[in-house]
Amino acid sequence: MRMILVGPPGAGKGTQAARLVDTFRIPHISSGDMLRAERKAGTELGKEAQRYMDAGKLVPDEVMIGMILGRVAKPDCAEGFMLDGFPRTRPQAEALDKAMSQVGVALDAVVLIEVPDQLIVDRITGRRSDPKTGRIYHIETDPPPPGVEVEHRADDTVKAVTTRLSKYHSETAPIIPFYLEKGILKRVDGVGVPDVVTERIKAVLSS
Ligand code: AP5
Repeated sequence: MRMILVGPPGAGKGTQAARLVDTFRIPHISSGDMLRAERKAGTELGKEAQRYMDAGKLVPDEVMIGMILGRVAKPDCAEGFMLDGFPRTRPQAEALDKAMSQVGVALDAVVLIEVPDQLIVDRITGRRSDPKTGRIYHIETDPPPPGVEVEHRADDTVKAVTTRLSKYHSETAPIIPFYLEKGILKRVDGVGVPDVVTERIKAVLSS
């Protein structure tokens, strides 16, 4: 299975990917997690990405395309992968399409998790994650157990999420018609408890 999870910030892409990789047994490739790992390691790429990420802006296409195409070319992706957060612009979608067709493979599905903007700010500002396991929590709806030390992302502020949402609508939403034309776009309602959303995704992937 070669698939992409698309949706606005806080749609639940990371939450759902963690549940789905066990079912499909494919690597979960989160562009945001890769960038955060570069930042933590103090690489040049991480330093360059930081100023875009903290402001809620997109990291330039040339950086992202090289990073992700290099990752999906690795042997563990030979039988499939789940991309989360990439592509996020039309040039990124076209570059992925070209690279895949050059090696004779194609995407099976693009799952669009739809959540209205008015629910996003609460989800994002309440998000916390466990740096040791990557497990995502929410301080109100899915709080971390006592004793688990969690982090709050630097871009999970009201100001940055407003910019991220605006970038989603102006830069990322235009990839939806690209995949609709290819007949592989699957829309999923992302409102409801995570278990219900997981079942919806599995249902569209098996139809
Ligand atoms: P990235 O890390 O990809 O962030 P994002 O797309 O904004 O998505 P999030 O991780 O914020 O949300 P999510 O959909 O995974 O939601 P989650 O499951 O955590 O990117 C960060 C930055 O990196 C970008 O702004 C950009 O600067 C840069 N970047 C990355 N990729 C790039 C690219 N391709 N090109 C250019 N720049 C790039 O859930 C969120 C919260 O909601 C959690 O608290 C969770 O518990 C809760 N929740 C989840 N599901 C539900 C549910 N069903 N009901 C209620 N609450 C729920």
